[in-house]
Amino acid sequence: MSQNTQPHQQANNLWSSKLAFTLAAAGSAVGLGNIWKFPYITGENGGGAFVLIYLACIFLIGVPVLVAETMIGRKGGQSPVATMRTLTRSEGTSRGWQAIGWNGVIASFLVLSFYAVIGGWALVYIGKAALGLFTGADAEVIGGQFGNLLANPWELLLWHSVFMAIVVFIVSRGIRSGLEKAVNLLMPLLFLLLIAMVFYAMTSGSFGQAVSFMFSPDFSKLTTAGVLTALGHAAFTLSIGIGVLMAYGSYLPKSVNIAKTAMTIAVLDTGVALLAGLAIFPLVFANNLEPGAGPGLIFVTLPLAFGQMSGGALFGTVFFALLLVAAITSAISMLEPVVEWLEEHKGISRVKSAIGGGFAIWFIGIGTVLSFNIWGDVHPLGFISFLEGKTVFDLLDFLVSNLMMPLGGLAIALFAGWAMKREGLASDIGLKGGSFRAFMFVLRFVTPAGIGIVFLYNLV
Ligand code: PFF
Repeated sequence: MSQNTQPHQQANNLWSSKLAFTLAAAGSAVGLGNIWKFPYITGENGGGAFVLIYLACIFLIGVPVLVAETMIGRKGGQSPVATMRTLTRSEGTSRGWQAIGWNGVIASFLVLSFYAVIGGWALVYIGKAALGLFTGADAEVIGGQFGNLLANPWELLLWHSVFMAIVVFIVSRGIRSGLEKAVNLLMPLLFLLLIAMVFYAMTSGSFGQAVSFMFSPDFSKLTTAGVLTALGHAAFTLSIGIGVLMAYGSYLPKSVNIAKTAMTIAVLDTGVALLAGLAIFPLVFANNLEPGAGPGLIFVTLPLAFGQMSGGALFGTVFFALLLVAAITSAISMLEPVVEWLEEHKGISRVKSAIGGGFAIWFIGIGTVLSFNIWGDVHPLGFISFLEGKTVFDLLDFLVSNLMMPLGGLAIALFAGWAMKREGLASDIGLKGGSFRAFMFVLRFVTPAGIGIVFLYNLV
């Protein structure tokens, strides 16, 4: 096995600026989680109070891991696996911590396999909206369109393949000419599309009702399960615990202040989630639809609203384009740890690593494609009681979102908080004095306790 452990810090392929890294990491954070999942879990959990808890989780649990993971990535300067190997040596810790690196590469591989299938749905829905297929259609027709898509493995496979091809193309071109160029174009586009959507919702929807739904907390509507959902989603939406930030951090110049940048990323991610809610709920309320409709909120409920409103075809197209852009900038971040690992550990060129890694991920994604139709009744681990009834897709999602991401996040918090040497940590993170001590307190105690609780809950 050829090994190239030259840290990226010495190579000339760092992010060209702090802004480039911020956009790329925010691009990873902002994704289907913000536009698809956040609105529907807010709807299911009664609005305001849930949003408040979610914000607390982002800043007390998410941000500390975001900071720690990026710092570890920059310090090691290589793929997550090699970074953790280097750091366990230089920090004189147990070699067991190297599992963090492997967890990252494997989890990001698996998460992309199903994320890309859902990314394909966004492609399909851009077409449907543009062709005016929602115009005047009733709930049965629109529900039927979604059902038919899921029932057709060839159609799902086609769009899954197109989505993966886009992701592989961008990643194969490298950090500066691939990822950076893509996020420089796509992130401003995403913000523009989102603002256009919120503006449309302000003028054509029940905006006041949506604002009060999202921002007036009614704690009687909040359940324990809701609190735990907020905590779990905070980790998913910030892309923490899965090696992505470690990989992106490995290309981060030493001059960038990680603590400040992490705050910017968290604020951008949260801003997009809230704006997505403000784009979606006014349309839902204006059409007397159900905010707690669940995962079908943006593929069934929202198209119904687009079908009833003037200009709905245009804004429906804009909305699904927004979803696609968000999904692409997250998906490229998931491929990066895999490609970085193939390049370094197997000595394969970047283009070949992106194509080979992408192909393997695409292949595993077929399991998710089939889970919605032909394998709908296949439950591979059904003999284990808590995995009963789970399809291949459900299992992958459960494994990554409920086990590998929280455990990865927990391990990162513990490694940075307890195992690494304190010396130099403050300047690596970019904090001083009291704020550094407060940060370390949260990282060592609050964050692990929070993640531990969600983890145990999800397991049960
Ligand atoms: N943060 C992304 C979202 O909210 O859609 C999802 C995600 C991206 C998860 C990257 C994990 C990851 F590594």
